[in-house]
Amino acid sequence: MKAITYGEHGGPEVLRLDEAAEPHAGPGQVRLKVVAAAVNPIDYKIRNGWMPPQMTPALPTIPGLEAAGVVDEVGEGVTGVSVGGEVLAWTVTGAYAEYALATEFAPKPAGLDWDTAAALPVAVETSNRVLDALEVGANETVLVHGAAGVVGAVGVQLAVARGATVIGTASPGNHDYLRSLGAIPVAYGDGVADRVRAAAPHGVDAVFDAAGQGDLEVSIELRGSTDRIVTIADPRAAELGVTFSAGGGPFGAQLAEYARLAADGKLGVRVARSLPLADAAQAQELVATGHAGGKVVLRP
Ligand SMILES: NC(=O)c1ccc[n+]([C@@H]2O[C@H](COP(=O)([O-])OP(=O)(O)OC[C@H]3O[C@@H](n4cnc5c(N)ncnc54)[C@H](OP(=O)(O)O)[C@@H]3O)[C@@H](O)[C@H]2O)c1
Repeated sequence: MKAITYGEHGGPEVLRLDEAAEPHAGPGQVRLKVVAAAVNPIDYKIRNGWMPPQMTPALPTIPGLEAAGVVDEVGEGVTGVSVGGEVLAWTVTGAYAEYALATEFAPKPAGLDWDTAAALPVAVETSNRVLDALEVGANETVLVHGAAGVVGAVGVQLAVARGATVIGTASPGNHDYLRSLGAIPVAYGDGVADRVRAAAPHGVDAVFDAAGQGDLEVSIELRGSTDRIVTIADPRAAELGVTFSAGGGPFGAQLAEYARLAADGKLGVRVARSLPLADAAQAQELVATGHAGGKVVLRP
């Protein structure tokens, strides 16, 4: 099969469009003929060799964590899906390929386009996990850093759906987008604490750092402690005593629910670019700018 592979850590130039062995569905797995594979920041972080050993696959490897496609093999013990079913999935083999295996997947509603479907799994799993860890409830005020990012924007929408008031940091060009999601936008950078206080005079009850760009000290200052602050991306979390949340766990049922909401127009994810598989290096470079303006998707 065609796949993007790399055999050494390094810049985008290590990525190659190559022939790779097709994976086959084992027990509990389905195989997807990938229609769209989404690019995540962790893909270039792993490629650069920046992630800890337990999150770094052996080389050579195929990057990519999430995809949408058509099931063409169903492993032993899998129920609820058959060959020909259209799904979105968190993949257990690299998603930047013609075929990928998955254990966590959900039916793709007919009204949901392929690119948006591929963009959902990581963002909804992460946002829901963090909002649960923060125990965000109705009538609370939540600060989301990086609120216009793919994960942050889903976090905003899910927090608003829980009845929270959401303040989101983003660059000014994204403020109308944040308003459209139901958040109160503030610019990040110098003076952000004062801008948040002006937007939330009674304080913030919880902080979701979906940017990982050095906003933890200001978050601790705003909260008055490290309590109810979770980051998904700041490497200084442990040093500052803040909870770092990393992914995992079964979430297929949850994914099905959010896919239906997305198909009904009640949950949105911006897709910034949809590129051919061969343009994986360009796609990862765009994501690495930190300002792609939405998900970047590859089409095998
Ligand atoms: N631990 C986990 O489970 C997990 C899961 C998924 C993702 N992540 C990590 O979470 C991060 C975000 O992922 P993503 O896919 O949402 O990325 P993304 O779509 O590229 O979003 C990044 C966002 O960060 C914002 N930003 C840049 N500099 C900022 C600053 N100084 N302060 C506040 N916001 C700033 C950007 O806002 P503007 O464009 O408005 O400037 C952009 O919207 C990545 O580091 C990723 O690796 C972790």
